[in-house]
Amino acid sequence: MDRIVIQGGARLEGRIDISGAKNSALKLMAAALLTDEPLVLTRMPRLADSRFLGHLLEKLGVEICEAEPAQLRLHAASIGDTYAPYDLVRKMRASFNVLGPLVAREGHARVSLPGGCAIGARPVDLHLKALKALGAEIEIAEGYVTAKAPSGGLVGAEIDLPFASVGATEHAMLAAALARGETVIENAAREPEIVDLADCLTAMGATIEGAGTSTIRIQGQARLSGVTHKVVADRIETATYALAVAAAGGDTVLEGAVLAHNKALWSSMHEAGVTVEAVDDGVRVARNGSRLDSVDIETQPFPGFPTDAQAQFMALMALANGSSVIRETIFENRFMHAPELARLGADITVHGNEAVVRGVERLRGAPVMATDLRASVSLVIAGLAAEGETVVNRVYHLDRGFERLEAKLSGCGARIERLPDGA
Ligand code: EPZ
Repeated sequence: MDRIVIQGGARLEGRIDISGAKNSALKLMAAALLTDEPLVLTRMPRLADSRFLGHLLEKLGVEICEAEPAQLRLHAASIGDTYAPYDLVRKMRASFNVLGPLVAREGHARVSLPGGCAIGARPVDLHLKALKALGAEIEIAEGYVTAKAPSGGLVGAEIDLPFASVGATEHAMLAAALARGETVIENAAREPEIVDLADCLTAMGATIEGAGTSTIRIQGQARLSGVTHKVVADRIETATYALAVAAAGGDTVLEGAVLAHNKALWSSMHEAGVTVEAVDDGVRVARNGSRLDSVDIETQPFPGFPTDAQAQFMALMALANGSSVIRETIFENRFMHAPELARLGADITVHGNEAVVRGVERLRGAPVMATDLRASVSLVIAGLAAEGETVVNRVYHLDRGFERLEAKLSGCGARIERLPDGA
């Protein structure tokens, strides 16, 4: 397995271009199932996860080609298959999002349950609640969900989510776009990826109001058309590089980043002593040599502090002056990076969903192991700020969600390289 080797201590100076958001791109790819015309996604990130979903979509009958770099053309002229097997859903939960579009377009589908993952149990009850509200008959047997639409197709309805789940909101939007009449999603998630999906579905012909607020209204259409849509900038990639600059020191422009998509993070970074400001073409992040202050955070659905940046923020706090309390409220098991950060010298105690990080003056490089996507990149951040050499093993986790990570960082002066298996 490849590994990443970092010689810590270099400042990050320059520019990093921010890719399209993984977590938006995956749902936009599923939207291709809703129309018999081509959907072209631009600023499309090249990631293991998008390739993986591409394999599933191809199995369902979608023709996919990379027309140009960062451009993906998906064409579901007809749906050849409505079965998504265990092996293609288990490895990546976002694959489960094909269920709603398949039922909306074909009237039936059989999709494997995704199962849990390293960061928590992650059930899909809210996704199924939404599809049931739209009239789907759902049966669960032998690890598979079989869903059937009523004879006239899915029908718009009120969907009241007990928790503002990102995946369930998106799943409901995808299915409702081809349902008859109006769907109202109450307590909808408000993440920028929801707005991005709404923009794409609107361009395809659905009428959608309220995306980005807690109530989303969708007028479904009998037919949707193909469009070209630019994927929103990745706010978690933005957060990650911003925290890398803060940890290693430096002055970097994150090109294409949207300031408004990370307000909670910026306010915590300001409080710690980092400069963050909007510039013409993105966001500038700068930190001089002085030590940062410790800041407490609690993860929350958008617009709160994102759970997907919690591990990276912990890496920063490992070097801050004083103690920081980090509370994770979205996933039950999302502190796997803490013991790995401790290998570099961080002083972290975890009790349930709370971690206390006592800042140390310096971290020292060590071999560490990636456990999930965001945990892995927190180790890269710590390695950039540490003295000496850090080797991050099992980097396939990073490839799921970060495009050209080493190239983007080394372009700003980081000493980072990937060593292939066996080297
Ligand atoms: C999305 O996951 C993201 N994934 C996650 O990013 C992100 O951490 C999460 O939203 C929160 O922002 C993708 O978009 C592909 P949720 P999702 O439904 O949709 C519980 C990353 O690192 N829940 O908002 O699965 C669930 O168990 C990843 O890129 C139910 O109980 O998140 C969790 O505790 C990891 N029943 C909480 O809600 C359900 O039916 C939030 O989940 C659905 C969710």
